[in-house]
Amino acid sequence: MRYRNSALNSGATRAALSSLAAVALVLVSSSQILAQGSAEAGRAKAAVCAACHGAEGNSVMAEWPNLAGQHASYFVRQLEAYQRGERQDVLMTAFASPLSAEDIADLAAYFATLPTVQRGADPELVELGQRIYRSGLPDRGVAACTACHGPSGRGNPLATFPVVRGQHAAYVVNTLHAYASGERRSDSSVNQMMRDIAVLLREDEIRAVASYIQGLR
Ligand code: HEC
Ligand code: HEC
Repeated sequence: MRYRNSALNSGATRAALSSLAAVALVLVSSSQILAQGSAEAGRAKAAVCAACHGAEGNSVMAEWPNLAGQHASYFVRQLEAYQRGERQDVLMTAFASPLSAEDIADLAAYFATLPTVQRGADPELVELGQRIYRSGLPDRGVAACTACHGPSGRGNPLATFPVVRGQHAAYVVNTLHAYASGERRSDSSVNQMMRDIAVLLREDEIRAVASYIQGLR
């Protein structure tokens, strides 16, 4: 007992505790700004999503995206895009259509709390994929992915840049194709930035950068 008291009273412990409290405060306030929905309510509403996106937001099928840890701001825009027809998918459109704005906010808040799972990249594609991700293709005007998605693929919630790390390469390939063809128009409110980038990428480059993204952690 005496040992415990003296440990708690030591200057180092107090400093550590107060910096922990500061970190907790920052985490609480930033998540309140980003997610107005209720993660608790979202958990119950997410039961129907688990069939495809997995019990913890990590899907088994590589064509179905992981949702775990995704930024709420981006997540909300995608469900609205399915509702407006700016994104279309035989499976997903049917599940997005009946959701209310409150459902969407709650689901977004819930999935943002789930931990992402680490996955690997194809070693043969890493070199090209890493070069595109980190440096872009300056001679063709392709911006570096890292500029918006961040060096480890964590995106930026305030700018609504999605988390991409650990995302299935097969899904990333499909969705880059959908941007390039103009079928996916969910970036309308952000200056079509992904359509403008995807259309400049060649097939081997899409495959390489998708594999690199899957391996980001
Ligand atoms: C029958 C399978 C299925 C079910 C059930 C399902 N989804 Fe999806 N979802 C998909 C597929 C497939 C895609 C990717 C489609 C595409 O390429 O546009 C997707 C995409 C998404 C995306 C976009 C992800 C991203 O990274 O842009 C979100 C968000 C999403 N689903 C949320 C949900 C929510 C919330 C539910 C439950 C209410 C749900 N889904 C139920 C199959 C499903
Ligand atoms: C100028 C900022 C910017 C740059 C540079 C950028 N992105 Fe994006 N990216 C975005 C935004 C914003 C979105 C979300 C758009 C939307 O809502 O559809 C996005 C979405 C994506 C998605 C869809 C994620 C999902 O879950 O469906 C992928 C994949 C992606 N970007 C890959 C890349 C790759 C690969 C590069 C580099 C070649 C890149 N991005 C460069 C801003 C950027």
